[in-house]
Amino acid sequence: MDKERKLIVAGNWKMNKTVAEALDLIRALKRELGSVKDIDIVVCPAFTALSDVSKETIDSNLRLGAQNMSEHNYGAFTGEIGAGMLREFSVKYVVLGHSERRQFQKESDALVAAKAKAAHAASLIPIVCVGETLAEREGGLTNKVVETQTRGSLAGLTREQVVETVLAYEPVWAIGTGKTATSAQAQEVHAFIRSLLVSMFDEPTARRVRIQYGGSVKPGNAREILSQPDVDGALVGGASLEERSFVEIIKNSL
Ligand code: PGA
Repeated sequence: MDKERKLIVAGNWKMNKTVAEALDLIRALKRELGSVKDIDIVVCPAFTALSDVSKETIDSNLRLGAQNMSEHNYGAFTGEIGAGMLREFSVKYVVLGHSERRQFQKESDALVAAKAKAAHAASLIPIVCVGETLAEREGGLTNKVVETQTRGSLAGLTREQVVETVLAYEPVWAIGTGKTATSAQAQEVHAFIRSLLVSMFDEPTARRVRIQYGGSVKPGNAREILSQPDVDGALVGGASLEERSFVEIIKNSL
């Protein structure tokens, strides 16, 4: 696919897979996708599998991501994991502000922004998620919600940092539901986010930021969604848990 920005497709494994299962999947992905150069491919296992999976990805074209991190570097924060700890496993990306964390852990935009700053300070690339609920979309609030989340979650980042940040537009109503946004709906919001980035930073900066779409991306719809001009990749949940579907998503997007 001929795109202005290099596509980035990330698999968010969420709270799934034992270490043994994670190793089976990463080995299969390496076999099938080991020669792909034109798409940045990222896998985000649970923390417990990062160490073993990193040994498989280190000498490959597949990159490792974490699903969350603390805004603090170290200290008395029971149960938390800091950016420096992720770096020990050659983690390069970290998903921040996923809607499940916004919903279940009540993560705020300010917290996501603090985490994004801490990620950059450790040279990790944050994948910052934004997206509206069904009620918000039906109430005509999509742009307002996405604007508040984007401005709040990127607050305090420099131009250089935002270029090294991936955004993920994930309409909450499309996550894990089998309901995908149409490619037109995705493009509309992605273009809106890019226009926001122009007003927050500047045009050249906004043109360099990659914005993934997430929410029920499958082999059958990936190509159409990713061919939209402002869609620069995908954040894939359910379909990233199986070798065949994740491989097909990547291959269908080449
Ligand atoms: P899904 O999840 O692909 O299962 O809808 C996407 C996500 O939550 O990142």
